[in-house]
Amino acid sequence: MKKRKSPSITKRESKTLYLTTEEEKILNRESGEAAATAMRLLVTMGEIFDADRLIPIISAQISGISYKTIGDAGLEFIQDFSRLGAKTSVYASMNPAGMDLDHWKEIGIPEDFAINQKKIISALNEIGVKSTCTCTPYLLERIPNYGDHLAWAESSAVIYANSVLGAMTNREGGPIALASAIIGKTPLYGFHIKNNRRPTLSIDVQCELKNELDFSLLGFYIGKKASEEIPFINLPTNLINNTCLKALGAAMATSGGQAIYHIKDITPESKDFKEDKLKEKITVERYELNKTKESLSQELDPDIVFIGCPHCNIEEIEEISKISRETRLVRKLYVCTSRHVWKTANSKGYIDEIEKAGGRVVKDTCMVVTPLERMGISRVLTNSSKAANYLPTLCKSKVYLRDLKGCMKYAIDGN
Ligand code: F3S
Repeated sequence: MKKRKSPSITKRESKTLYLTTEEEKILNRESGEAAATAMRLLVTMGEIFDADRLIPIISAQISGISYKTIGDAGLEFIQDFSRLGAKTSVYASMNPAGMDLDHWKEIGIPEDFAINQKKIISALNEIGVKSTCTCTPYLLERIPNYGDHLAWAESSAVIYANSVLGAMTNREGGPIALASAIIGKTPLYGFHIKNNRRPTLSIDVQCELKNELDFSLLGFYIGKKASEEIPFINLPTNLINNTCLKALGAAMATSGGQAIYHIKDITPESKDFKEDKLKEKITVERYELNKTKESLSQELDPDIVFIGCPHCNIEEIEEISKISRETRLVRKLYVCTSRHVWKTANSKGYIDEIEKAGGRVVKDTCMVVTPLERMGISRVLTNSSKAANYLPTLCKSKVYLRDLKGCMKYAIDGN
């Protein structure tokens, strides 16, 4: 290993990042311009965060896929990388695109948008990133194991991987995750180090959590109240399943900067830490959840019902299909999921049940990153605090929050 001083970050001249001979060669363009660019990005990140070396990763997950959120500048960045000959060296998945890649016409996506979206996907495919188009990479066939190092970018996936799986990843930006996918490594800092995963704040939840929306509201409240902290949560509920944990983390990572939480006796690393060592404790009661809901939601007559933020897992689709069975929906229902889960749901007949009732199961995208505002939709009913937070700004939509059953009731009887 060679000790390397930073030539690019003068403020950190005293800091060192050790590169192997192989890594030095990549940096010196011996593996081509694209790999050198990717290595430069990782070295810069490593130096900023005082990493002393790079470590191998199992997988990368790339965000910034929708043409709606990255526009022409993002498209050009990815195309330039692709033209330089960039190639992934580890498994790399991508976040949702701005449309269902197969059925974009049917859901009213404008053609100019679709053309640019396809260019983004094909440039990423050229590099080697798989068209998974989902924010739930932990539901794909390659589920990370406890202790695996990753370079994931989607905030809801990062917090799930760290907290629920015990894998290790920082909240990467899209370009850094892409650079990690190319090099197959990430700088060793932040949540890759066990000691940085210690809880810093105890959260005592004193009300019953009845459904996924309650978990989502709790997550949003914690993120807002303690955005810099790592929560250690004490929950009084038996209703803890992966759907609820998915909702909790996605909301927390939206309103706060969290990339990890622990739940006493539930999440894998909670046993490693002692709650009584935490100096500060906050309590959460129903009142806090109600106020959080009031801040995100208003009663209105929605244009659509949207379930699937983060993307639905198979259990959620099964539940939606059971509720849809032998009904006729009177309101538009969009259920968003990955193409991976869609295939399983299709093979079990769930997609048919939902679509026979008049609902639509959309893959590859979600109602936040699709150009909803160009599709004549401005009022949305959903069960996700994350969606409720972003829809007003990204899609100019008003939002009404209900739990999944409440959303389905509205889709079925309009009330
Ligand atoms: Fe996923 Fe879209 Fe929500 S990307 S986390 S469904 S905003």
